[in-house]
Amino acid sequence: MKSIKPTIDKNKEIPNPLESFLRHLNSMIKKNEQFYSELAESGYENVSAKMYRRDSTKKLPLNSSSIDLIITSPPYVTSYEYADLHQLSLLWFGDDPKHFKKWNRFSDEFIAFRRNFIGTTSKKEKSGDFDSVIAEMIVNNLLQVERPLAIDVGNYFLDMKKVFAEMYRILKPGGKACIIIGNTNLRGVEISNAQVAAEQMQRAGFEKIEFIKREIPNKMITPWRDSETGKFTGKDNPSKTRAYEYEYIVVMEKP
Ligand SMILES: C[S@@+](CC[C@H](N)C(=O)[O-])C[C@H]1O[C@@H](n2cnc3c(N)ncnc32)[C@H](O)[C@@H]1O
Repeated sequence: MKSIKPTIDKNKEIPNPLESFLRHLNSMIKKNEQFYSELAESGYENVSAKMYRRDSTKKLPLNSSSIDLIITSPPYVTSYEYADLHQLSLLWFGDDPKHFKKWNRFSDEFIAFRRNFIGTTSKKEKSGDFDSVIAEMIVNNLLQVERPLAIDVGNYFLDMKKVFAEMYRILKPGGKACIIIGNTNLRGVEISNAQVAAEQMQRAGFEKIEFIKREIPNKMITPWRDSETGKFTGKDNPSKTRAYEYEYIVVMEKP
């Protein structure tokens, strides 16, 4: 399957794994060559890069006012359980402590690891102000339908509020943050994530530059969600609903 997400295709013919791997490797080599020749042409070939694996709801190891641009695609509330989706790779890498020194710790302590994910379900109810009237309305509406779901969504908004505050701290004045985010509908309640994010970011001090709505171009993932749970579902599910036909790009600036 093309997606990294676990999916079932009953008609799938099992290909020769070595052939598939080599074909994919070749295409990645070609794309990398293209990328590096573009970097060289534009004079950006020798710019250094550093990667951190961090929980973005916590303080990042970056100085205040040190970053020019943030581009991010945060989790969408309760639609993916990222920790579960990546559990297989985690277990796989965990068996290889030579190359992935700390990964076996995550697979051993999976439940605790899972709790750090933004948008995961069954977190303990957190308290605090959402800094968004839209978020307030959404959570109140959900409370009328399903309390545990209202708690999940409330926790998600509180986590994202922390992320926005940290983004604001690390950006330089004049620095920009672009976030790509989609809305959804849970148990008949419209979950306007993008509008909530825009409100929370403005409360964190950001100024709005652009709010772009765009049709999702790649239909690699199923467009169907279960109208009860908001989770991905197949086209044969009678309570299916179409979701995320659009997504939003929110561009903000730290004044
Ligand atoms: C919509 S996806 C974006 C994926 C990304 N664009 C990529 O290509 O890998 C959201 C990502 O946020 C990650 N995430 C969830 N909770 C997080 C947290 N507390 N800190 C940092 N990342 C988190 C998820 O694991 C997931 O990979």
